[in-house]
Order: sequence, then structure tokens, then C-alpha cells
Amino acid sequence: MTTASDYSEKIPNNVDLREDRRLQRALESWQPNFLQWWESMGPALPTQDVYLRTAINVGREGWAHFDHVVMKDYRWGIFLAERDPGRQIGFGGHKGEPAWQKVPGEYRADLQRLIVIQGDTEPASVEQQRNLGATAPSLYDLRNLFQVNVEEGRHLWAMVYLLHAYFGREGREEAEELLHRNSGSLESPRILGAFNEETPDWLSFYMFTYFTDRDGKYQLGTLKESAFDPLSRTCEFMLKEEAHHMMVGTTGVDRVVERTAQVMVENNTDDVAALGVIPLPVIQKYLNFHYSVSLDLFGGDTSTNVANYYTAGLKGRWLEGRRKDDHKLTDDSIMVDALDDAGDGHPSISQLEVSALVGLNTDLRREYISDCQGGVNRWNKILAGAGLPQRLKLPHVAFNRRVGAFAGIEASPDGELLTADEWDRGKGQWLPTDVDKTHVRSLMQPVHERGKIAAWIAPPRNGINGKPFDYDYVHLA
Ligand SMILES: [Fe+2]
Ligand SMILES: [Fe+2]
Repeated sequence: MTTASDYSEKIPNNVDLREDRRLQRALESWQPNFLQWWESMGPALPTQDVYLRTAINVGREGWAHFDHVVMKDYRWGIFLAERDPGRQIGFGGHKGEPAWQKVPGEYRADLQRLIVIQGDTEPASVEQQRNLGATAPSLYDLRNLFQVNVEEGRHLWAMVYLLHAYFGREGREEAEELLHRNSGSLESPRILGAFNEETPDWLSFYMFTYFTDRDGKYQLGTLKESAFDPLSRTCEFMLKEEAHHMMVGTTGVDRVVERTAQVMVENNTDDVAALGVIPLPVIQKYLNFHYSVSLDLFGGDTSTNVANYYTAGLKGRWLEGRRKDDHKLTDDSIMVDALDDAGDGHPSISQLEVSALVGLNTDLRREYISDCQGGVNRWNKILAGAGLPQRLKLPHVAFNRRVGAFAGIEASPDGELLTADEWDRGKGQWLPTDVDKTHVRSLMQPVHERGKIAAWIAPPRNGINGKPFDYDYVHLA
């Protein structure tokens, strides 16, 4: 059964907000600050309206309601997946006990921290993407950018709801802080590194939505398993929206690769920079960058905190229910990446056996890596289909890392350990240089005409919600 939600309310929701006046007032007093943040840090391109999907309910019909919407009137609602009254905790020391509807006192600080870290990423990406509208390659892409932006805004609402509803005054203070930290700010940056990087061009945007949003998918997947039922239900619903963000990244890179391949074949050359498209080696460098900074988001290769979160039931594994083990992991082990310094000053990349609980970050990162490989295979099929011998690939896990076992060393994309000099000499071949970035940016001329598309990218195979590519997805102001 679906809980009805009244979309005419100030804050659309399916959490019976009108029954809880105190919570409603707290959220209503946060809302103007959110709107002010959206005005100053959200999409900068002025529009009349945008063809957007709005969640107005969680049921099959309601969660994807499409219409042309005035952006500043967008309704960021609070929606949790349906409650399963019989839900039991699926892992850790409390396995088999009923899921929690309230926050147990002993886990309060840890749960709040997990929610704040997740919440901080949501507005960060909106800030990073603020200026992209000005250079959109088509109205279709512009609409997708705004769709991702409003949904990340809604995900912020989702985390703020939990903070307000379950964490008292401290939760309200954290909700304020989520609007005060800003991506790339020197005084108060966002919590995680990748969310302080710029997203200055559309190739970066597609790579970000492919690699960094995909990290978000995996983090939400672990929180969806949480014993704290409201967090679990919130994340379950957010994951539905994430699927669209993944699609934007996957097909975005598809279309860049497709167009580059086309121009390479037509002109029988690899040297396509002057022909108005992005050369494959530059696409590879962007991939290397976004993949490596996203790997860092999974944290250290071993973590006792994460082991404790698991045992406490706060955060599970990706697809916990499908794992064929005891879901407690107290007797299991896992091999994690490590640097083996034989004491002779010449470290080598190796593996180390640790307890499965301590290695949970590695478990999650590996799930993510095999998912990422799927995109690369797909892009390589496009190259193969065009009759080209070149291939893209994921760099070695030790490449360009700032977190974990490889933070202190430099390695090539093939996983060869390098001296500082070798790294300095080589990095321009592996990561985007200023010349590469300037070239990519020079291609970013806006195409805001209906049915038209920039020359550096192929049109999409399908439009949105059954509409054609040349639909009027956005009316500019
Ligand atoms: Fe999100
Ligand atoms: Fe997302």
C-alpha cells in the first residue's frame, strides 16, 4: 500500500509531517536557507521552465512525475520507501532483531556522522556543476543536468529530514552546516576530496556522473542495509533516482567516444584535436582522474571504524542479502591492497590478509571497480564497432591515490611504482594537462537551440520519458 502524500503542502512528503508540528516548523525554518543556497550556489543559467521528473510519491506512479517546472518552484519533497513492519536487521551483532525505528543512544554519534557525510556530498555536486548550463551541448543535456541537480537537492533534504527528525538540536546544527560548507571553499570545504574538485566542462560532468555518482550509489547501497530503518528507507528511494544519474554519465561518455571515433574514421587519423572533437588520449586522462579520485572516496583499505559500523548494524555491505555467509564475518578474512616495504627502501605493491570486518572498505571498493569496468567495456565496444584498434582502460588501483595504502607513493596507470621524478615527467601523459583542459573548454560552446547538438558529441539514442531528442526540454529565460 502506498501512503498518500499531499503535494500541495509546503514540503511534499510521505512521512506524515503534518502530524509532527515541531518537526514541520524546524524544516520550514531550514527551507528558506536552502532556497537561498539554491539561488546562490545552484544552477546559474536562467530558465523559464525545465522538463523535470519530480518525486511526488514513492508508489509506482508517483515517484516519476514529468512536467515543465519553474526551477525555483521545484518541490523538494521528503520520501521514504514503504515501511516493511516485519523488517529485521540483516547483519552484524544485532542480526535477526527487529530494525530500529529510533536511534539507539549508543550509536547516536556514529549514525549522525554517517548521515552528515552522505548529506555533505549531495549539495556539493550541485555547487560543482553550477556553471555548466552556460555551455550545454544540447537542450536534452541541459535538462539532464538540471534533473541531476534538483535530485541532489532532494537528497540533501532527505538527509536533513533525518537529522531534524531523529538527532535533536545537534542534528539541526549539522543541517545548517550542510549549507555553510561549500565545494572548493578554502575556509570551509566539503568533507570529501572529490567533492572539492571542479567540474568545469561537460566531459568532466559525464565522468563525474559515471565515476563519482557511482561511488554515491555504493555508499547508499550500504546505508540501505542499515538497522536504522528510516535511514534504510530513505536510501532505498534515493537509489531509484541515482539510476538516472548513472545513465547520464554512462551514455554521456558513450556519446563523446562515439563522436570522436566517427571523426577519427572519417578523417583516417588519431589526431582529431583540430577537428573539433576530444582525442581518445584526452578522454583516457579524464577517465584516469575521475576514477582515481573516486576510489579515494571509499576510504582506507582497512578501517576499524567501518568494522564497528558493520558489527553495530549501522552500515552493511553492497547487496548484503545476497551474500552467502554468516553476515557477521567474525571468522572471515580478506586480502587487501598493501605496500610491502621489505625494509630496503624499495616498496612494492602487494596484498595483505586482514579480518573481513576490517577490510570492508576494500570489499565495497572492489564491487565498485567491477561495476566501473562495465562502462569501459561498453565504450570499447563503440571503438571496436567503429573498426578502431584503440581501447580505454581503468588505471591501476595504485594510480594517483591520496587515500589508503598507496597514498604515499606514485604509480603509473599500469601499476608500476615510480620515483617522484618519474611521476613528474609522466603525469602529463596520464592526467589532464592545462593544454588538454583548455582544448576541452574551447569546445564547450553552448547549443541551446531545440534539436541541435554540439559537434564534439553524438546525439542520444533516446530522449526522456518517451519524448524525442528535439523536444523542448528547456525554455531559457
Ligand atoms: Fe545523490
Ligand atoms: Fe547522484
